Amino acid sequence: MPESTPQRFTDLATLRRTVAGWRAAGERVVLVPTMGALHEGHLALVTEARRIGRRVVASIFVNPTQFGPNEDFSRYPRDLDADLALLGLAGTDAAWTPAVETMYPAGFRTRIDVAGLTEGLCGPFRPGHFSGVATVVTKLLNQVGPDVALFGEKDFQQLRVIQQAVADLDLPVEIRGVPTVREGDGLALSSRNRYLSPAERAVAPRLHAALAEIAAAVRGGSPVAGPVVEGRAALEAAGFQVQYLAICDARTLAPVERVDGPARVLVAAFLGRTRLIDNVAV
Ligand code: PAF
Repeated sequence: MPESTPQRFTDLATLRRTVAGWRAAGERVVLVPTMGALHEGHLALVTEARRIGRRVVASIFVNPTQFGPNEDFSRYPRDLDADLALLGLAGTDAAWTPAVETMYPAGFRTRIDVAGLTEGLCGPFRPGHFSGVATVVTKLLNQVGPDVALFGEKDFQQLRVIQQAVADLDLPVEIRGVPTVREGDGLALSSRNRYLSPAERAVAPRLHAALAEIAAAVRGGSPVAGPVVEGRAALEAAGFQVQYLAICDARTLAPVERVDGPARVLVAAFLGRTRLIDNVAV
């Protein structure tokens, strides 16, 4: 396993040549797309990538097109040197760190919209977000050309949107989800957790606790409405401003009234100025 700083690429032709050489040698290439500000959750993706592939490429690109005008693009944490060091320790061969002009040169016109899956949950609260994600991920997949790409299940709607886009566009890559990594108290790891004040950080694990309680309450097939209303009220009482709390079919993301197949409890809520999302399987 390479434990030094990964080879950094900013030129697309050089990246493509390198990956093509690996694949020609029969080496399985796994991509871990990120926006940097790496934490243990990202490193779990790299660890899984190492387990299933011979070569690991991580991309670091804070994608402007997936942030709304009032979101945190300009204050999103950026520390490339620290990220490269962490990727090296985790065993990453290559880091693809394109400039904004490389990804979106003057005259760029195309966007990818995945209907249906983007209409609920985060969709109405983050107009354009999933189109930005689907477009940049499609570009990253075309640029790197991996056999497999890994995404965290914490962004469950994102994972489903990407799987759908890849299937619809016949992209020759397998998309896999990797389970959410949590702090000891249940808080899902996120680059945005660093925005939380100490008081907010103390309350934040309630989000996962509420999801776990709801999942347990509906597991036997009892109606979901009661536990969801109670869970939402408990979160609001604890200081969260809940955007949505829902139980959805794990494949279509359509809300369900009873759980009779694979389902997910999903939530988005503000704690102060910080927007947190999380989900658990039922
Ligand atoms: O989950 C993320 O970090 C981003 O949405 C992704 C998938 C890297 C696309 O910019």
